[in-house]
Amino acid sequence: MKFFVDTADVGEIASLAETGLLDGVTTNPSLIAKSGRNFLEVVREIAEIVKGPVSAEVVAMDAPTMLREAEVLRKLARNICIKLPLTMEGLKACKALSDEGVMTNVTLCFSANQALLAAKAGATFVSPFIGRLDDISQDGMELIADIRLIYDNYDFKTEILAASVRHPVHVLAAAKIGADVATMPPAVIRALAGHPLTDKGLAGFAADWEKTGQTIL
Ligand code: E4P
Repeated sequence: MKFFVDTADVGEIASLAETGLLDGVTTNPSLIAKSGRNFLEVVREIAEIVKGPVSAEVVAMDAPTMLREAEVLRKLARNICIKLPLTMEGLKACKALSDEGVMTNVTLCFSANQALLAAKAGATFVSPFIGRLDDISQDGMELIADIRLIYDNYDFKTEILAASVRHPVHVLAAAKIGADVATMPPAVIRALAGHPLTDKGLAGFAADWEKTGQTIL
């Protein structure tokens, strides 16, 4: 499973990239607003830090303008992935970009039929929003499972990018189903590493090691 971080905070991205475990980055207009930074500038910086796909989202509502925005975004770096909304206009723009070999991420996916359309439009990634479905008492993970089944039925190459991930259990469940990618807030990535028994065990080993009076270096 690939790990993307879902943030426009360059400091967080740089720190997580140092682990060598980061495969890409997703941003959206809300995350850009939260960063308080210039969109094009921050995306360019992110794409220098992480060599994998960096999703940058168009903001137009019609396909021709989306394609013009995509032109600007594509020029920022070679690893820019154009993020488009799951609307008929977004799908139209996605098809045009996919036909040109441009990486695309179709976002705001809330149904398996929408995901089917994204795959037919040749999307590189589809982003089903798990957390936002859970928020309205629908099962986000059921959506991931349905998309996995459909994509496997037809051997679609579009990668399932589990998005709107809120906690480690989302990551675990998405991994069990076979989502190709999970994009997570930095805190969730860090939380995956934590376990109280790891901390307790490590403290015990450190105390016992000290009793030996030895050093390795
Ligand atoms: C990622 O591409 C999405 O924009 C993001 O995961 C949305 O997450 P949220 O529902 O927590 O805003």
